[in-house]
Amino acid sequence: MRKPIIAGNWKMFKTFDEAVKFTEAVREKVPSEEKVDAVICAPAIFLPTLVDIALETDLAIGAQNMHYENEGAFTGEISPSQLASINVDYVILGHSERREYFNETDEAVNKKVRAALTNGIVPIICCGETLEEREAQKTEEKVSSQVTAALKGFTPEEVNHMVIAYEPIWAIGTGKTATADDANAVCGKIREVVEGLYGKETAESIRIQYGGSVKPENIEELLSKEHIDGALVGGASLDQDSYLALLNKV
Ligand code: G3P
Repeated sequence: MRKPIIAGNWKMFKTFDEAVKFTEAVREKVPSEEKVDAVICAPAIFLPTLVDIALETDLAIGAQNMHYENEGAFTGEISPSQLASINVDYVILGHSERREYFNETDEAVNKKVRAALTNGIVPIICCGETLEEREAQKTEEKVSSQVTAALKGFTPEEVNHMVIAYEPIWAIGTGKTATADDANAVCGKIREVVEGLYGKETAESIRIQYGGSVKPENIEELLSKEHIDGALVGGASLDQDSYLALLNKV
């Protein structure tokens, strides 16, 4: 049985005060971590404070990106060991916005996944197709190649610590959600790819989220599907009531 994981991705939203207020308000209200993993991936500048606020609660804090080196002359970057040193639990890697606007490659994502695991941080590895790719029937090819590249060179045991997020790019922030059946079919394909690489047991245990205009009104149907184990949520994670509503629908 795979435990659901609902992660909010705040992207580049919220001021410091807003972030603190939100986290203080939800930390005691999130459901037990025995039932669901509740995560907020916040802008890096807020992380140390939010980790402190969420300490000893069922709320986990994640980053939205990181470098793959632990240290070095990389002005403006944040390293995996720096995130680990403030007890960040998760990191989103290979989000389509990072790939599109910051030229993040499959190779860099693979190195970041390695660096996350080495530092005890759970990577949430994103994949997904553009509208053009979907219309050209290239969805499976695209996600298969992204997942294969990201998961290159690990052991099945390491893969068990990863989370994959399927986010069709055309559904992000657009209000358009993939139908639950379509999302499930692609998540099932991802599971097949993992099985081909690491065997059935690993494929059965890895958690795969769907992301793209998830909201309290549609999360139940998505989560009812066989291969969808959670959600990576942008817009609907910014409001505390809506974030808690998502968690309470699990
Ligand atoms: O990472 C989450 C995201 O890209 C989906 O955003 O606003 O469509 O839920 P949104």
